[in-house]
Amino acid sequence: MSQSRILVTGGSGRLGQMVLDQLLHAGVSGIITTTRTPDKLGAYASLGVDLRHADLNDPQTLSKAFQGADRLLLISTDDLFSGRRVQQHTNAIDAAKRAGVRHIHYTSMPEPEASTAIPFSSDHVATEATIRESDLSYTILRVAWYAENPVELGLIPAALRTGTWLTSAGAGRIAYVTRSDVARAAAAALVRDKETSQIYDITGPHAMSAAELAAALSRSVDRPIEVRQVDDTALARELVASGVSPQLAPMLVTTDANTRAGNFERVSHAVQELTGVPPTSFESFLVKNKARLLGATDK
Ligand SMILES: NC(=O)c1ccc[n+]([C@@H]2O[C@H](COP(=O)([O-])OP(=O)(O)OC[C@H]3O[C@@H](n4cnc5c(N)ncnc54)[C@H](OP(=O)(O)O)[C@@H]3O)[C@@H](O)[C@H]2O)c1
Repeated sequence: MSQSRILVTGGSGRLGQMVLDQLLHAGVSGIITTTRTPDKLGAYASLGVDLRHADLNDPQTLSKAFQGADRLLLISTDDLFSGRRVQQHTNAIDAAKRAGVRHIHYTSMPEPEASTAIPFSSDHVATEATIRESDLSYTILRVAWYAENPVELGLIPAALRTGTWLTSAGAGRIAYVTRSDVARAAAAALVRDKETSQIYDITGPHAMSAAELAAALSRSVDRPIEVRQVDDTALARELVASGVSPQLAPMLVTTDANTRAGNFERVSHAVQELTGVPPTSFESFLVKNKARLLGATDK
């Protein structure tokens, strides 16, 4: 078991909490987590987690909050539109160096350099570069699209309402990975206490095209779902008409453009390599969540 002290940023986020759960389950002691909202994490304090307030916008909070940590998991923030995200990550990397952290883990995205269609890919390119230049050893976790995204972003509920999966991705594929598999992989990387630098593609077991996704969804919920390929402009318009929020629709269009370009399709064995257990397939995820999917649609 690792003797190093592990620090997880963004402890109140969904991934952050899952990583904490994995670390606790593995019997890791001395875990530190930083968050802007320690009040939300009282249950973790009672399990021995050292809760510390930190805001990545405020370097002063980080110096104290990162003290004593040896291995850091920097969870990329969800601050996609303010223009401050790279600075937030840079603040964390600088604070880690000041605090004597030896190894940084970072949640990046697949093929960030090639993924120019995605507006926030440059955040990950810049953060990865800052980590490489930091002189600390690192583990970059290039996390594939969450299997949860099509549910949480309203795409699967819309497909179940309309019977149609709308896409401009063509034959492009996505190697969907569940958030819990990402958490398992991140926790495993944190506890193995390696000091060598590595980049992992954290993916599900297969990459799926829109046609394969619609077929899997159809089988999972016993309803016909047809695929309709449209261009990016029509996709944006029709997503909004099908109930997806107008703020979100342009981002979903860029996802399809990047998928069409082949930048989300790489599949790796990293989850199994790190954890010893293969990742969940997208179809298993759908089957497991069938009641939730149908409940959300039938309301
Ligand atoms: N691969 C994918 O498909 C995918 C999808 C969505 C998001 N992501 C990325 O993966 C990350 C984790 O996913 P998730 O589902 O756990 O997201 P989430 O539940 O929305 O959590 C957002 C995270 O951002 C942190 N954060 C935001 N602003 C911050 C700030 N100023 N200082 C410190 N922390 C800040 C939050 O920390 P506290 O609130 O605890 O301070 C929290 O951990 C996201 O933040 C995003 O970068 C990836």
